[in-house]
Amino acid sequence: MEISDSEFVRRLYYSVLKRPPDEAGLSHHVALLASGALSREKLQDAFEQSPEAVELLRKYEAAFGGEAEIARKLAAATGRWGSGRTLGPRVIEIEVSSRCNITPACVMCDIDLAGKAFDIPLTVVEKLAPLFPGATQILLHGIGEPLMNRDLMSIIALVPDRSKTGFNTNALMLTRSVAARLVDLGLGWLNVSIDAATPETYRKIRRNDFLRVMANIRGLIEARGDRKIPEVFINMTLMKENIAEAPAFVRLGAELGVNQIIFQQMNLQTAIAAPIESNGWVFDYRSQLLQNYPELHRDAIEAAYAAAAEAGIPLVYRQHY
Ligand SMILES: C[S@@+](CC[C@H](N)C(=O)[O-])C[C@H]1O[C@@H](n2cnc3c(N)ncnc32)[C@H](O)[C@@H]1O
Ligand code: SF4
Repeated sequence: MEISDSEFVRRLYYSVLKRPPDEAGLSHHVALLASGALSREKLQDAFEQSPEAVELLRKYEAAFGGEAEIARKLAAATGRWGSGRTLGPRVIEIEVSSRCNITPACVMCDIDLAGKAFDIPLTVVEKLAPLFPGATQILLHGIGEPLMNRDLMSIIALVPDRSKTGFNTNALMLTRSVAARLVDLGLGWLNVSIDAATPETYRKIRRNDFLRVMANIRGLIEARGDRKIPEVFINMTLMKENIAEAPAFVRLGAELGVNQIIFQQMNLQTAIAAPIESNGWVFDYRSQLLQNYPELHRDAIEAAYAAAAEAGIPLVYRQHY
């Protein structure tokens, strides 16, 4: 999908001159393009070499000690959107499904409070696809379970360089055939949310069968065979109930042969107010937040980092979103 001349010029104003277009300038440049007097690439050059852009660059350099010049040279060396790159966002996040196969939901997840759940239609993603070549990361998740979308494989196929795309998943629907299709498509990565190192804790938090997830991850790694992608990460959303399992989770990842372990804390803001009963346990969001247990948190994280170093597996701890 090609953008119109006026949209192209409007974006030039924002990206090069960092300001909205004035009416006279906009119509003048659109007319130049329409008459064929200038190509888009030449117009971009003209914008970049205009006194206004040069002055802007000078101001940036004065403010940032020459970083703007470095960025300009880098852009020149790597090519611009006129010669291969496209205008548009570098990171694209698409919630392919806001439905989930885990019902009732994982205890800390506010999906049920998020309103009407649905899958994004393939036709909508097709409209976004012209932005894909310019992006460095395409994340196919939000709240909900991406594997619920029946068009997921076709959506992934719309990404030209699939090594830069992936999604978070509970992996309960990651059967052998699904895994094989993801591998064949050349998906870049998959982040499996587990939140526990034992079946008991998994059952409490995710209300499901831990062994099934383990089998599905093993199946994916087997389907990947000698290929490097999809990289497989396993993820733990930390809370009081599972923090003690953090070191064991690292060892579990090493034993499964995943590429990386990811930890994150529960969001500080949540709409979940009332306690939730789950398999003989009562989850209370506020009292599960680790800010209430600094020592418990520190000891477990230190032990987890030690386990990661021992196993030689990368551990990434994302603090709050
Ligand atoms: C909402 S899920 C959606 C993708 C997929 N269904 C899954 O579970 O991975 C994405 C991630 O958010 C995490 N998550 C859920 N509730 C959270 C909360 N209250 N705070 C922080 N992360 C949360 C999950 O553990 C999961 O890793
Ligand atoms: S699997 Fe993901 S989206 Fe579904 S309830 Fe759990 S955290 Fe929420």
